[in-house]
Order: sequence, then C-alpha cells, then structure tokens
Amino acid sequence: MNDMTPTSAERAEKLEGMGCKRKRVEDIRFTQGKGNYVDDVKMPNMLYGEFNRSPYGHARVKKIDTTKAAAVPGVVAVLTAETLKTVNLAWMPTLAGDVQMVLADGYVLFQNQEVAFVIAESREAAADGADLVEVEYEQLPVNVDPLKAMAPNAPVIREDLKGKTEGAHGKRKHYNHIFSWQAGDKAATDAAFAKADVTIKELIVYPRCHPCPLETCQCVASFDKIKGELTLYGTFQAPHVIRTVGSLISKIPEHKIHVISPDVGGGFGNKVGAYPGYICSIVASIVTGRPVKWTESRIDNLSTTAFARDFHMDMEIAATKDGKVLGMRCYTIADHGAFDACANATKWPAGLFSIISGSYDFPAAYCLVDGVYTNKAPGGVAYRCSFRVTEAAYCIERAMDIMAQKLGMDPADFRMKNLIRREQFPYTSAFGWQYDSGDYHTALNKAMEAVGYKKLRAEQKQKRDAFKRGETRELMGIGVIHFTEIVGAGPSRACDILGIAMFDSAEIRIHPTGSGICRLGTKSQGQGHETTYAQIIATELGLPADNITVEEGNTDTAPYGLGTYGSRSTPVSGAATAMACRKIKAKAQMIAAYMLEVHDDDLEWDVDRFRVKGNPERSKTMTELAWAAYHEVPPGMEPGLEAVDYYDPPNFTFPFGAYICVVDIDVDTGTVKVRRFYALDDCGRRINPMIIEGQIHGGLTEAFGIAMGQEIHYDEEGNVTTASFLDYFLPTAVETPHWETDWTETPSPHHPIGAKGVGESPNVGGVPCFSNAVNDAFAFLGSTHIQMPHDNWRTWTAAEKLGLHG
Ligand code: CDP
Repeated sequence: MNDMTPTSAERAEKLEGMGCKRKRVEDIRFTQGKGNYVDDVKMPNMLYGEFNRSPYGHARVKKIDTTKAAAVPGVVAVLTAETLKTVNLAWMPTLAGDVQMVLADGYVLFQNQEVAFVIAESREAAADGADLVEVEYEQLPVNVDPLKAMAPNAPVIREDLKGKTEGAHGKRKHYNHIFSWQAGDKAATDAAFAKADVTIKELIVYPRCHPCPLETCQCVASFDKIKGELTLYGTFQAPHVIRTVGSLISKIPEHKIHVISPDVGGGFGNKVGAYPGYICSIVASIVTGRPVKWTESRIDNLSTTAFARDFHMDMEIAATKDGKVLGMRCYTIADHGAFDACANATKWPAGLFSIISGSYDFPAAYCLVDGVYTNKAPGGVAYRCSFRVTEAAYCIERAMDIMAQKLGMDPADFRMKNLIRREQFPYTSAFGWQYDSGDYHTALNKAMEAVGYKKLRAEQKQKRDAFKRGETRELMGIGVIHFTEIVGAGPSRACDILGIAMFDSAEIRIHPTGSGICRLGTKSQGQGHETTYAQIIATELGLPADNITVEEGNTDTAPYGLGTYGSRSTPVSGAATAMACRKIKAKAQMIAAYMLEVHDDDLEWDVDRFRVKGNPERSKTMTELAWAAYHEVPPGMEPGLEAVDYYDPPNFTFPFGAYICVVDIDVDTGTVKVRRFYALDDCGRRINPMIIEGQIHGGLTEAFGIAMGQEIHYDEEGNVTTASFLDYFLPTAVETPHWETDWTETPSPHHPIGAKGVGESPNVGGVPCFSNAVNDAFAFLGSTHIQMPHDNWRTWTAAEKLGLHG
C-alpha cells in the first residue's frame, strides 16, 4: 500500500452508505417540476369522473334522477348504486372486515357521501353533470357524538346491520356498536388501584383530524377489453394490497391487474385504503371501454377520505404517594364513522393501542376499547402513526402530567422515577409487548440538560409569582414528554391484513459493471426511499449509493409487499434489503474465493472488497466480483448476481424520544407562542441523519397543527364545518416554530442493521408535548386538563373558566 492508496475509512466515505447525510436523489426531479404524479398521467381518449355527494348527514334516498346530468354536453354515463349492483359492486369490503357503500344504496350516512358518479369528456363537464343529478332525500335523525352512539334511543346508523349481534370482531352490544377489544389484566389492575395511595381519572379526547397530504387521492383506471386486463394508476401507499383486494372485489384475475403508484405527494395513512373513487373509475372504464381519471378535490379529501384519531379515552392511573406508578386502566370509545374502514392489522381492531403504558414500568395495566358507528365519514387511519399509537402516547403523556400535578411532583422527576430502566430491556410490558431496546433515562437527561430545564422551571416560578401579583398577563408553560413507539408491522404471527401476512420484500440485481437496481414492496410518498435504501446497499455491498437505482410502486416488477405506512419501511423492507444484500455478498464471496484460489473462510470483508486474511494485497472488489458473476463463476454455480428477500420480522421495533416545549400564553387573547421546541429521537441505527431530521421537522409541524388548531368538526345536524383550509388549520412556514433536534442511538437488537422506524415519531411525541406545555401553563391555577386543539379561542375559554378575565 502506498501513501496514495485510499484507506478503508476513505473508501467507506465515498460510498455514501449508512450514516451519511446523502442529499436526496429524488429532489433533483421534484425541485424542477419533473415529478410524475397521477395527475400527470394522461391517456388517449381519457374520461373524467366526478361525484354527486350528499348534502345531508343522514337521510333516506327516495329517488335519484340522472336525466338532466346525462344530458349535459360531454357527459358519457352516470353510475348509481343500481348500476353498480349489476356488477355486484354497490358495496365493497373494508380493510376492517366491514362493508361500505360505494354509492348511496337507499341511504346516506354522512355528509358528502358519494351518491352518483358522472363520467364525461372533461373534468368540467363531469362536475356540471354531478351538480345536475337530482336526488330526493328524506332526512333522518343524526348522531355525530360517539359518547351517545350506544344510548338506548340513538339513531340507527347501519340499517343493514341492525339485527346482527356478531360483527367482524365478535359480539356487538348495541346496533351502533362495532367491536369491543381489550388487553392487559383487569383483575391485577383493579387490585393495584385498590391498594394505591393516589389515583387520577380524566376524559382525554384526541379529536378527529385529517392527514392532509398535499396531493389528494386520485386514480386512472384503464380496462383493456381485448386482453381482459386492468391498469390502475393511483396514489396508493400499498399497491400490492390494492391489486389483491381489487382482484377479490372485481373478480379480474390478479395477474391481469397492473397497479402503478407513480410519485405520491404525501400519504400519512390517507392513501392506504380503497375508496369509492377507485371502484367507480374501474367500473366506469369497464362500462365505457375508455380510461377514466378521478381526482379528489380538497373538500372531498378533508370530508370523505380517511380521517384519523377520534378516540375518547377515560384514563386512570394509580400510584404510591411517593410517586411510583402501580397501574393504569383506560376505557375508550372509538368513533369510526358510518363504516368501519379503519386501517389496522386485522387482529387489532383498536390497532396497537395497548402500547398505552408508554415508557413507564407499570406493574399492571388494562384497556378496553369500544368502536361505534356515527354519522361521520369512515376511516380511522394510522396518520403518521403505527395504528393508534399516537392516541396511546397522547393519553399516557397527558395522564402522567395530571398524576404528577396531583402528587405535587415535577413532571420530569415523576417520569424519571417511572421510566423503564436500561437494564430492563428487552422489557415485557404489562400488555405483553416486548420492547426491544432503550435507554430512556439517558434520553430524558440529555433533553433536560440541553434546554436548561432547572433554569426554565425557576423562570416559570418567577413568572407565576409575578402573574399572581398582577404584574404580567402572560403564563409560561413547559411541556415534557417521553414517548415509546411500536413500529414495523409486522411479525406475521401478530399482523395480517385480510389474511395477507405483514412481511415485506426487496429484490436486488447487481449488473455486470457493478451498478444495480433494488425493487421493493414499499412505496415512498416523500420519505426519500430512493436515497436511503441505496445507502443500506452501499454499506452492505460496498458499491457507491449513486450506482443503485431504487424502484417502488409497480406491482408487475416489485416483489410482493404490504406498502409504506406506520413507519414500517425501515424496520421491515430496510431489513429485507440488508438480507438480500447478504445473500448477494455470500455468492460474491464464493466467486472471490474461486478467483483468488483460497477457501471462502480465508477471506475477510473490507468495506468494498473481499481480501485474503493476512494478505490484504490480494483482494477482489465488489465491482470486480459483479463482472465475474457474469462470466467467471465457479464450476456448477449459476451466473448472475441477484437476490430477493421476504422479511418477516421477529418483533416490532420500539423507537423512543424525549421532547421538551416551552410556551408563553397571553391569557387575554388566548395566543400561544411556542418559544422553544426540543426533540430528541432515538431510532436505532441512523441511515441518513439529514433525512431523519427532515422527517422530524415535518412530523413536528403536523403535530403543531394537530395540537394547536386541527379538528374535523361536525355540527349537530351532521354538517362538516371544517372541510376547507379556511376552516381547518394547516400550518405554513409562517406559523411553524423553530425546531431543535437531537438524538441518541440505541440499535434494535433483532434488526439486521439495528435500525428502527422514525417517520411517525415526531407526530407521536409532538402532540402531547405541545398539549402538556399549554396545560402546564395553567396547572398552578388548579386546571387539570384542557382538551385539544389549543387554538386561541379554546385557550382563552380555559382562562375564562379559571376566572382570569376578572
Ligand atoms: O415507512 P416510512 O418510510 O414512512 O418510515 P421510516 O421507515 O421511519 O423511514 C422514513 C425515512 O427515514 C426513510 O427514508 C428512512 O430510510 C429514513 N430512516 C433513517 O434514515 N434511519 C432510520 N433509522 C429510520 C429511518
């Protein structure tokens, strides 16, 4: 080796592998307007579909007259439930085991429900036609309050299920009841409460909110009558699942369905399930023999496609008087709207809600969730959340503050006393989840030191004294949280969707010149997968990340996968990628041994090459081995260098974080100013720190929106009063606070590269942190819990209730 020979470290750096802040390769096209979204798909002879929708929250549909709509110039056809019945598609199955009307069949059950689908030569003609569909309604009593859904005289939401005492998830206790689901040990928990010195109980509501991807849901369906084949372009987070479910519903053989998710502009759970727009476009294409495009408007997206949360959690904690938690129990009403179209692993009707014991060492815990029907849009998706984890984290983190307040303890000290200790991992929670790894005290200590926690509390004390003396009208609040997530659905023993086990996949082909392509069953919606999967391969195979193309979203070319949501891409497909690399590397090692005329075991790996142990001058680089794989393989070995891996993870991964937020609140206007927000995340081994930071900035911004202003609100008549961005708060760069990010790195012991997911974490941890900060500001005045969202009006009202306005 001479002085000019690059060292191993220099060679590793050049690969831009794991740990490198590699620039996002997809941004080259996105920042130049060269992305290819569904709306960019234009096919010859393409038609456009538009819905006529219900103005009412609950009504009987007495008559639909499509004569005037059909007469609009350019209108080609109008579909109603009657048309769909001829192909047995008036109703469709949901991911949660329920059925959902595709078009109103005798009833409408929520405002803006799809009633008729007008197909025309242009989007404008379709919209004009939709306006002219005449529908005669008879209004019915409305219920939008989940807490009243199971009252004896509550309006019947689902006539079709009225007499059924069994649902997809067991016994139903009322005609508006969907399921009961419980976890934990009730008897042990009740016993813990019986011996506790201190208990708290609070109704903690996580309001209905919406993922709001910048690009709404849309599709182009093109049915080729000659070949009997359907091509479906769409904004799908899980293209293979859409293909399988599409085949089961339409009876088109699965190999004759081609699903393509091109670039997708944000998903956040909104684009996991199937919507009436997809079914109607497919039927319309079959009926007309032409491609049909459906593009959802913003109002349609906010008011009809999958919402998130709407969990009403009655939470209790029991503790000793010196602040050791003994037990927790939670009774929750989950509002699923008019159809149970919640996106969950099938066995978990309330998702992974039983992570609700959070980061704390609860000896006993129990939760019970009842799902109910109301006159609201269906959904209940994992909005930047792994199946109800966000609701769980919000609930436990608010409850821990309420308990600390009752005990007269500092919320950080109370947490420190109860956090699961490093030596307890792998830790089995009272709900039976096995947390893979963690170092919670280090994370919270680092966070507290970074913000100068003690000083902040001292400042707060001074301000509170000044407030009491009437010298200021401003309150200071400090929010502290420690969250634990459960991501990476999932181990197939725990998770499936409609019987399809939740694994994921990667197929890697290395070409003769040492570049290659990796195809996956996941689908990026902005997370930067084209950049980061290539980094895993770069480190694993010693090939530059720039040499690897990453391709997702085409069901004809990608191996079968369950898609991207719930931060599962890194824990599952990231693992599949590493495992596929290792298969390739094992073959490359045999080729190297043959070429170097040594035994396989005499070789060792060095960044980008195999070298002979004790004789490092003798080596073969991965690029040389790729070339050899196509012309110089050992006798009896197949040529080529490729592998596919279907990875069924042995466990979930459990990322965690410690967040601290400081707010200043003007009690006279209710204005909440976020002075500081510090987020420390631990997602195990970090693939791309810059992308992680971007994910955290985005998730915190969404958390800020949810905590400070978002609610999909219905009035008593079932009208959605927040169906546009004029009424629904979407933070822009103007409102969004500055974020300080930090990290610790505790690898997952069971993941091949030690990585955990990260995309959801800031949303999971951010919301309770903001809410705790606002609540903390008022706590010294005796307030225990102010419900989200903390907009000016609600904050002002909270101050008013405390008599602060004189
Ligand atoms: O499933 P989804 O892509 O939404 O979430 P994720 O697996 O948490 O990954 C989000 C982005 O962060 C991807 O580009 C990952 O490669 C990246 N990431 C990372 O760089 N290091 C980690 N330990 C986890 C995620």
